[in-house]
Amino acid sequence: MKLEIRNQNLNQVKADLELIFVLKGKLDQNWIRKADFKFREFKGETDKVIILEDKGRMYAGIDSLDPESLRIGAGLAIKSLAGFKFKSLKLGLYGKQDGNIKALTEGFLLGEYFFDQYLTTKKKNYLKKIIFAQEEYSGGKLDSLAKLKKQLREAELIAGGVNYARDLVNMPPSELTPVKLADFARDLGKKNNLSVQVRGEKYLEKEGMGAFLAVSKASPYPPQLIHLTHKPEKAKKKIALVGKGLTYDSGGLSIKPSSGMSSMKADESGASAILGIMQAVAGLNLPLEVHGIIGATENVIGKHAYKPDDILKSRSGKTIEVKNTDAEGRLVLADCLSYAQEKNPDYIIDIATLTGAAVVALGEYTLGILGNDQKLKDSLRKAAGESGELSAELPFNRYLRPLLKSEVADISNIPSSGFGGAITAGLFLDEFVEKKYKNKWAHLDIAGPAFVEKPWGYNPPGGSGAGVRMIQQWLKGL
Ligand code: BES
Ligand code: ZN
Ligand code: ZN
Repeated sequence: MKLEIRNQNLNQVKADLELIFVLKGKLDQNWIRKADFKFREFKGETDKVIILEDKGRMYAGIDSLDPESLRIGAGLAIKSLAGFKFKSLKLGLYGKQDGNIKALTEGFLLGEYFFDQYLTTKKKNYLKKIIFAQEEYSGGKLDSLAKLKKQLREAELIAGGVNYARDLVNMPPSELTPVKLADFARDLGKKNNLSVQVRGEKYLEKEGMGAFLAVSKASPYPPQLIHLTHKPEKAKKKIALVGKGLTYDSGGLSIKPSSGMSSMKADESGASAILGIMQAVAGLNLPLEVHGIIGATENVIGKHAYKPDDILKSRSGKTIEVKNTDAEGRLVLADCLSYAQEKNPDYIIDIATLTGAAVVALGEYTLGILGNDQKLKDSLRKAAGESGELSAELPFNRYLRPLLKSEVADISNIPSSGFGGAITAGLFLDEFVEKKYKNKWAHLDIAGPAFVEKPWGYNPPGGSGAGVRMIQQWLKGL
């Protein structure tokens, strides 16, 4: 899709179709031709779109003019054009833009996405061009074209990162193996000028990453510790992003019931988000040193499978009693977090589809933010909101921590109570965060929004690319 901005009156711009947003209930604006609605049920309701093919106009209802409403409106508009053969679309920009162009562009590009890699009959995007026309208005000066173009470019890079992550999440698990994921990372690095280092089993053994290794034991594919680096010349800060990259999670010997197992191809969503973020960070050339660290493996069964009752030695030296092999993400992350801390970053953010409990607590659309430092958590919450992602804090407390006690090891991989599972998982990770990093680390549980069966807003069914936009926004604010 090509997006373009012009300083021109809308009626001078040639396009197959014009998009008009209608604020809920406000059908009396002078740019709305009331006759268009004469015989139709349309009052500008949110989520409703009408297309007047013969007139070359379409209307999309939106809740308000805030960025997220625009994003949803643009996404819905483009989705509803799927069955039509319009090649170009135009819309007017009125008044102060303040980021509208970014929201609209993201809405279009995220809404347009579909996953058809495995369909024998491919879907087709007829629409090739969207033209924004910035019209003169009585209220003040127009925004500079250069500024708007920069915002458009930024939105394209962000949406590109999100769609890249979605593709990986949607890939079938026997195709996207840990080794293949590493190939994707190498390829991404090549194209975006990022350095990429991939380490296998030998390195993990040498590093004493016994927790990560144990999870990988039953897989025919070697575990892959993937490390991407964006290192500009004058970096303001150094950030480490750590991602759970379980290309499949069957539960292992503590095997999941079939209903819980399907969709576990999405258990590398944290890793996928990191790749999407790294792509955007490189494209935007953010003045930060960013390390993307991914623990990739799969949790399956086989003759070498790790077992409930095993005691593992983590990279940090702490021993872990395995009480449930389905709590594998935290084992992989424990070792990756310890690796990340040695790089001496200013902040460490991990991102993972870590617990079903996070989905129970927050619903499918909201990601959880956990950690010790209120300021850091607040800054992540703020970035999520600004970027259009839903998030909520899941607070630690002193009573949940003791539930991870083990009689035979330093810590157990599951708590003794089933309540508060998203928080106890966060507290488990916290055990592998050194004192000096306690307030510089946060954990994002994206188990809910990373993969949703039904479409929502501008998201398709399946992988959503959760975390990419919020982390990009957070990085930008550093
Ligand atoms: N990958 C799952 C978490 C998950 C569940 C992600 C649903 C997305 C949707 C994780 O590895 C897991 O299985 N966690 C267990 C932990 C339990 C054994 C303590 C869970 O949530 O049930
Ligand atoms: Zn699991
Ligand atoms: Zn998992």
